Amino acid sequence: MIRLETRPQRPQVFGSTILVTGGAGFIGSFLVDRLIAEGAKEVIVVDNMFLGDVQNLQSALREGVILYKDDIEINSTLSFIFDTHNVDIVFNCATKALNYSFVNPRNAFDTNTQGVLNLLEHQRKGCFQTLVHFSTSEVYGSAIYEPMDEKHPFGPTTTYAAGKAAADHAIASYVNMYKLDAFIMRPFNNYGPRQNHKGYMAGIIPITIWRVLNAIPPEIHGDGRQSRDFIYIEDTINSIIQLYPILNPAESINISADSQYSVREVISMITQQLDYQGEIIQKPSRNADVVCHRACNRKLKSMINFELTEFSEGLARTIQWYQGHIK
Ligand SMILES: NC(=O)c1ccc[n+]([C@@H]2O[C@H](COP(=O)([O-])OP(=O)(O)OC[C@H]3O[C@@H](n4cnc5c(N)ncnc54)[C@H](O)[C@@H]3O)[C@@H](O)[C@H]2O)c1
Repeated sequence: MIRLETRPQRPQVFGSTILVTGGAGFIGSFLVDRLIAEGAKEVIVVDNMFLGDVQNLQSALREGVILYKDDIEINSTLSFIFDTHNVDIVFNCATKALNYSFVNPRNAFDTNTQGVLNLLEHQRKGCFQTLVHFSTSEVYGSAIYEPMDEKHPFGPTTTYAAGKAAADHAIASYVNMYKLDAFIMRPFNNYGPRQNHKGYMAGIIPITIWRVLNAIPPEIHGDGRQSRDFIYIEDTINSIIQLYPILNPAESINISADSQYSVREVISMITQQLDYQGEIIQKPSRNADVVCHRACNRKLKSMINFELTEFSEGLARTIQWYQGHIK
């Protein structure tokens, strides 16, 4: 990690013009809502709608958020936005879901690298001041030691994660070379309302809830003992807002609950909450699936006032949302 002697003057969220890439997605749309609530002057979203959903921005659009349905891998898309708006801060949430890398490995890698390189080049040329980049726990791969802190070596097991790891290195190198104000939020597995529940790109929690709500048996891949560190979306957003003014350039931070639930446990909790007693289908394990993921969130807790939503409580809120929003 590169520590600059003094943190550059960073624009506050309040009163700033902020671009959120991938802002029609799960985390991005919650972030957009929060940035508006925090008093951002103008919030702009660019999302190619690969997995984004305008419904996620319903209230934000009513508040005057500007949505560009466009692609950040195309440099001229960003040039147009920076020419048109006086952007101060960029939150880079754009990505294609991990599962897509099993279908189109090269493209998943490209999205995770081209987008951030285009942003860094614009930042280097003075188009905006601060870049908050979203990394992922997937850059660590399967745990060599647990809980995984920010010093855990990178060991990406998919091209999605390899692209994310390359992006993290790109941030650090641009900061080193050009003294940019760019830093890295590294969430672990998020869950909550608005997370994509459709098709093979859906995560375990939304797809299981959707299947049970539609009387389709849930599926377990492999023995179901693979574990993840699940954090409720609101806890992630609260953390990001508090971390924004205090992280140093090139610094990264895990955003996690420091807990571990196996896929089997998660499915069992969902089926219990929905009172489902039917069949659970056993499928072969997915090639390259990370085995276990438990983050050390000591750094996070030392830096902010971190309040954790209990997993069962977050799950109940999530289920309630899907019950009201999907068939
Ligand atoms: N959800 C999680 O559990 C999790 C965990 C760790 C890290 N993250 C990171 O958080 C960020 C947000 O993830 P998410 O869960 O909200 O994903 P998401 O898929 O819901 O949102 C990503 C958005 O990016 C858009 N997008 C994809 N390619 C684009 C492109 N080339 N140009 C413009 N938009 C594009 C998609 O349409 C989508 O709306 C990502 O960087 C992801 O790697 C998420």
